[in-house]
Amino acid sequence: MQNKDAGMALVCAGILLFTAARAGGEDIRYSTHIKKLFDDRCVSCHGKDAPEHDDFKKDREGFKKKGLGPKMDSYAHLASYAGWPDSGAIMRRLDDGKNTKDGKAGNMYEYLGANEEERQRNLGLFKAWVGVWTLKRFSELTREELAGITVKY
Ligand code: HEC
Repeated sequence: MQNKDAGMALVCAGILLFTAARAGGEDIRYSTHIKKLFDDRCVSCHGKDAPEHDDFKKDREGFKKKGLGPKMDSYAHLASYAGWPDSGAIMRRLDDGKNTKDGKAGNMYEYLGANEEERQRNLGLFKAWVGVWTLKRFSELTREELAGITVKY
């Protein structure tokens, strides 16, 4: 029951955020905001030299030693880490700890900015872009939640 309530709270929070972002008149898109943010803060490890996700998984430790994560330097790549097939990956990795079970920030949160203010601002942009900020995996998502993951180009 608790899990379900927490889930509902998450969905509500997500919808609220989504609405707030839209009500603010700001349409947060990949092409207008997220690509630039990604190029500034993420592309050094997730760029053209980075492997496709399945190749990354074959040699996780080897790539990590080289400072490389899976490739995400296109709209289609990045969107696949929010919606499908790696549903919620962006949310799990970038969350500041407010939605994680252990209260710890995801391990990519630190890269969002040089200081807490910048990290929070950029997290806000990612949240608005994603739409419904849920940390669930594909099999746990409801259709409504999935439909709420907008990741606009
Ligand atoms: C210093 C290098 C580095 C930077 C900068 C970096 N990442 Fe990562 N990232 C990694 C590595 C290495 C992994 C894989 C290891 C792991 O699972 O933690 C990873 C994993 C991820 C994953 C999980 C992928 C999966 O397997 O599902 C996501 C999502 C992600 N990063 C997003 C981002 C975003 C968004 C940014 C920019 C805000 C960013 N990362 C910045 C190195 C980096």
